[in-house]
Amino acid sequence: MCGIIGFTGTQDALPVLLDGLTKLEYRGYDSAGVAVQVCDGIRMIKSSGQIRCLRKKIAESGMLPGCSGIGHTRWATHGAPTDTNAHPHMSNNGKFAVVHNGIIENYIELREELTAKGYVFSSETDTEVIVHLLDMYYSGDCKKAVMKAAARLQGSYALGVICADFPGSVFAVKQESPLIIGVGAGENYFASDVTALADHTKNLIYLEDGEFAELTPVKAAVFDCTGAEIAKPITRIVWDVGASQKSGYDHFMLKEIYEQPRALKAAIEPRVKNNRITFDGFDMTNEEARKISKIIVTACGSAYYAGCVGRYAIEELCGVPVEMDYASELRYRSPIVDENTLLIVISQSGETADSIAAVKELKRRGVRVLAIVNVVASTIANLADNVIYTWAGPEIAVATTKGYTTQVAALTMFALWFSEKLGRISESRYDALVKELLLLPGLAQRAIDLNPHIQDLALRYHNNSSIFFIGRNIDCAVCLEGSLKLKEISYIHSEAYAAGELKHGTIALIEPGRLVVALCCHTALFDKMMSNIREVKARGAEVLGVALEGDRRILMEADDVIYVPKADPLLGAIPRIIPLQLFAYYVAKCNGCDIDKPKNLAKSVTVE
Ligand code: F6R
Repeated sequence: MCGIIGFTGTQDALPVLLDGLTKLEYRGYDSAGVAVQVCDGIRMIKSSGQIRCLRKKIAESGMLPGCSGIGHTRWATHGAPTDTNAHPHMSNNGKFAVVHNGIIENYIELREELTAKGYVFSSETDTEVIVHLLDMYYSGDCKKAVMKAAARLQGSYALGVICADFPGSVFAVKQESPLIIGVGAGENYFASDVTALADHTKNLIYLEDGEFAELTPVKAAVFDCTGAEIAKPITRIVWDVGASQKSGYDHFMLKEIYEQPRALKAAIEPRVKNNRITFDGFDMTNEEARKISKIIVTACGSAYYAGCVGRYAIEELCGVPVEMDYASELRYRSPIVDENTLLIVISQSGETADSIAAVKELKRRGVRVLAIVNVVASTIANLADNVIYTWAGPEIAVATTKGYTTQVAALTMFALWFSEKLGRISESRYDALVKELLLLPGLAQRAIDLNPHIQDLALRYHNNSSIFFIGRNIDCAVCLEGSLKLKEISYIHSEAYAAGELKHGTIALIEPGRLVVALCCHTALFDKMMSNIREVKARGAEVLGVALEGDRRILMEADDVIYVPKADPLLGAIPRIIPLQLFAYYVAKCNGCDIDKPKNLAKSVTVE
């Protein structure tokens, strides 16, 4: 999704802006632009396509000398990804330039109002209303104009504003879209996320919704929506210096797949103290736990699929019913909830608009919210009553890998912790599961070590035009994620099915040569899976079986086999998904796809 950056200091702004935009590329975008305060006003250059197109355009038209400016990567929502629709947008008189991440819901009314007043629109975007509003409300006080314009906007927005009359000042406004301030020595910044700033400063100010900031080289002043200055704490972040580099890997996705043992260690080990699961800053009395009569798990995409895995552990260990809801749907139905419902929201970024909206809606109905989130101090982490951080570290590739596996680990730890509160688990089962949890990083490594075999399989199967994934129980949930990984980065059509469901319609699509990936790791359901494999083979499918190490029965039916390390059935998703992540990766690589930045996708989906 769109990324914004702003800078003011004493060095040239342009390299800082372009570097920041490059770091924000991973969010997904289709055009980019910058505006810099130069000696006689504001100069702006923007371009459709990648940042290298913008760089080329800047090089052709001469540099933009100036020490403050704003930049933007746009993921098109209103209007095609053209040069004109790219941000920044400028007021008709060239006095203001604006970058925006989010959606202005009332832009049609505002556009009509401003057009009637004589403002001329040059783009199809919702954003352009903002810059004309700024001009309309401007009477020499830029801060006031920013406040007044923001007060007219409905929707979600993170804005960056510069005004030709205030050289050296950049304004930033936050309302339901991510925005952070970076505090440097003699220079200050704002950006959509820390990735863009980490090379410049580790000192951050997190803005709340409704707050805005005026940055000059020497001050980062933050105001509430009435314009009163407020004191904000500066948070010093710990940032893995290697996070924004590929460190020798061809892609961030591969690097992040390989980081999973370490990420799982960071997610699990600090939570196991004296053989007991504990969560810092989050506890519940046994009485409170017993009052919870239902859990709703909500999320989007892979995070939702992590929830599908976690559901098995929660229901089996805790005996509490779990409802799964896509965040984009939850808010538009009427879920039956009361004060005894617990909402678990799962989000790597903590900024997914649908998940935020679902949290707000259920909070409004009095539901307690537990967030499982990776990005510290993100919107969802701030909104939730309690947070379990996944500690996966920064995830740059659009397709999540370590984000997903650490979510699964966090959910399983929650299930174990909760079952103890409820007094539903025997001491021996608890101890065994804790032991198995601590083994997960090692199992993840053994799954990664399958890499050479997976590369061979990808070479063999990458030409398939449609690939099916089937499984039962937790394997079925793993199939959902394996199939999503494949389609999002390789663009191969793929579907995931509960193996027993296939014959109720979808089996019509199985034809000679079609690849079916069959997960057969659930021991109790192995024979059922064999029957399902026979059904698809009878229709000419090729079968890539995924089975537990040492299980030779699969060789009778499958054309190829991936043997995955054994784990407790409730924890098996992690060693099983890793070969499927690798399979998706190498199939996409064989097909020459842009793996870290798949077409049409964004890392952090901050619009509905
Ligand atoms: C797929 C993927 C997405 C995200 C989804 C939710 O690889 O990354 O499906 O899982 O957009 O994002 P978060 O977890 O940031 O809320």
